[in-house]
Amino acid sequence: GVEVSSLIKEAGVVTLDPGFTNTASTTSAITYIDGDAGVLRYRGYPIEQLAERSSFLEVSYLLIYGELPTADQLTAFTQRVQRHTLLHEDLKRFFDGFPRDAHPMPVLSSAVSALSTFYQDSLNPFDEEQVELSTVRLLAKLPTIAAYAHKKSIGQPLLYPDNRLGLLENFLRLSFGLPAEDYEIDPAMVKALDLLFVLHADHEQNCSTSTVRLVGSGQANLFASVSAGIHALSGPLHGGANSAVLTMLDDIRASDDDVDTFMTRVKNKEKGVRLMGFGHRVYKNYDPRAAIVKKTADEVLGKLGKRDEMLDIAMRLEEIALHDDYFVSRKLYPNVDFYTGLIYKAMGFPTKMFTVLFALGRLPGWIAQWREMMNDPQTKIGRPRQVYTGVVERDYVNLGERG
Ligand code: ACO
Repeated sequence: GVEVSSLIKEAGVVTLDPGFTNTASTTSAITYIDGDAGVLRYRGYPIEQLAERSSFLEVSYLLIYGELPTADQLTAFTQRVQRHTLLHEDLKRFFDGFPRDAHPMPVLSSAVSALSTFYQDSLNPFDEEQVELSTVRLLAKLPTIAAYAHKKSIGQPLLYPDNRLGLLENFLRLSFGLPAEDYEIDPAMVKALDLLFVLHADHEQNCSTSTVRLVGSGQANLFASVSAGIHALSGPLHGGANSAVLTMLDDIRASDDDVDTFMTRVKNKEKGVRLMGFGHRVYKNYDPRAAIVKKTADEVLGKLGKRDEMLDIAMRLEEIALHDDYFVSRKLYPNVDFYTGLIYKAMGFPTKMFTVLFALGRLPGWIAQWREMMNDPQTKIGRPRQVYTGVVERDYVNLGERG
């Protein structure tokens, strides 16, 4: 019955900002977003230019070290990452311990957590060389771990990484290859995956990145901090939306509803019915990442020979929404997740893997943000305040005397 506003007054100079919608937790020189103008830049470079001309490992370098690499720096970085893709045999055995149908997301975070038991030589967050080693190990091993989580969930044997291959080529081979067969790497698939990872590589202080920073602010090591970030990403309001879009499109296709009937249900706000993949907390004009994915989705799906009914349904939904007053007046536009799931599906990944793929793309951002924080003399342990709303004070009552 107590007004929260009066409690805030009592607490003194404390800001109550649930969800931190208007509280900056840090300064950062990594990623710039202008939600009204639909602008996203990594280290000052527009996402459109990076998507068209850069690559995932180059963008990883840019985010982590602050500058685009020279040709020699990129070659050295790429080779270093490629050399570290193998997992320790004992870590490989971890995958046998999970239930056969384990969701790959908790398998991913558990295995990353376990990395700190295997690499105790690189846990000091203030030793530059050790941080560098952990950085390379994470970038190299996360795709291997993700592919193994997928393989185990479908009951297939685990392959060894082939270090002659590029990081993403290796990942695709580990995900889809079989021991007795040559796996033919499709360059269109590599290009599409690379592009999607570039688009997901960082997004400033979102839920998982803020988690990585908060855990790291207590001086926990990089593996522990990233593992916590993966857990944060797993929630359906965050990384899980990309699979929700696919479930929605599947439901529309399987039901007797046509697209118009579904949209009427959305606009009538039927319980639990939303146009998934639409709307964003920050972008209120358009999500620049969605614009890029849309442009390439059709092309990529065409190249992969997977242009299907689901893409048509998605395009029709978008077409209706872009001209409908319900969506226009609420500034609801497609977000990055509207088309990504369709591309991942066309590549052959099951829906359960979509959020894992998001984690692979977001990894360089987590690392860059963690390193920026560790090097910032202003960093303090993250410790939010609260406004207490419980009983003020009362006397303890002995067990036998309680009503
Ligand atoms: N479909 C239908 N109506 C919607 C949708 C949607 N996808 N999103 C918002 N609305 C409506 C709300 O009902 C509300 O209507 P009202 O003003 O009549 O009450 C209005 O638009 C504002 O919505 P909020 O939920 O207040 O907007 P908020 O900024 O808090 O939420 C969010 C943003 C969570 C992304 C929301 O748009 C949503 O749920 N979208 C679908 C899920 C999704 O795609 N999430 C992925 C986000 S991107 C990412 O994580 C990479």
